Amino acid sequence: MFSTEPLTDRFGIAVHGIDLNEPLDDETVHALVDLLYEHRVLAVRGQKLHPASFRSYCSEFGDPIRHVRSLGRELFMPEEPTILPITNKTPGDGPLAQGAAHWHTDQSYDARPSSTTILYSIEAPKQGGETGFIDMVAAYDALPTTTKDEIEDLVVEHQYGPGIALPEDDVPTASLSTQEQRDASPLVQHRLVRPHPITGVKALYSPCATSRGIVGMPLEQARELLAQLTAHCLKPEFRYHHPHAVGDVVSWDTSATMHRAALIDRATGPDDSRLLWRISVRGTPPRLAKAAS
Ligand SMILES: [Fe+2]
Repeated sequence: MFSTEPLTDRFGIAVHGIDLNEPLDDETVHALVDLLYEHRVLAVRGQKLHPASFRSYCSEFGDPIRHVRSLGRELFMPEEPTILPITNKTPGDGPLAQGAAHWHTDQSYDARPSSTTILYSIEAPKQGGETGFIDMVAAYDALPTTTKDEIEDLVVEHQYGPGIALPEDDVPTASLSTQEQRDASPLVQHRLVRPHPITGVKALYSPCATSRGIVGMPLEQARELLAQLTAHCLKPEFRYHHPHAVGDVVSWDTSATMHRAALIDRATGPDDSRLLWRISVRGTPPRLAKAAS
């Protein structure tokens, strides 16, 4: 079996002693899934993965989904179309794809949002390029009881593109989504206090990135409430910024977290190059579903 160590004294856990190129038995997969749901962020260290092995590992957490992003499409892998390569080594003068550089929850604009997202780090800059995480269960738990009661039954409308309660420094990158992408995306609804689909644990769900309003509430009041909750979530005590090391496979429970990629400059050499593979999945880990049936 593998060994573990905490990533922080609050949330996140690292795992050593597994080779994800090898087939995983039921016991190991159940243990990894449990660790993810308990600690929100799970880093499996020291990997050197084939694309099929990465996709196979990610599939243990749910069904891989394809992203709607248009920037960086030239990097897609035809043999593994659910892998989204993320790099700052793109040639030319055009903008780097940095649409994840704002606090968000993957596919919160979808009626069936992502349940887990996984990044595999193949090249990592010596400095910068972190992914920030917010523990949205801890942020919910820390709210005053009166606030919890006030927001318990609220339903938030989401749509692709910048939300109404983005923190000020998030706006420039979030605006990278195109009008065409926004128009193709319908309004969807998610509970603001959303019980985890597997564990039932309550978390604040994605108050800022794609929120467009609260059902039955005037827009300005909704904006103010969502902005207040966002400011609460962004407090340092709920955050962890993960510096990706080469070989890290980092997954996060999207139902229980928000995340943000650090802005990064175009690479000038090996010391500041980044290459990540990303897969986001939705639904239930298949081996959990099988065990329950
Ligand atoms: Fe993301």
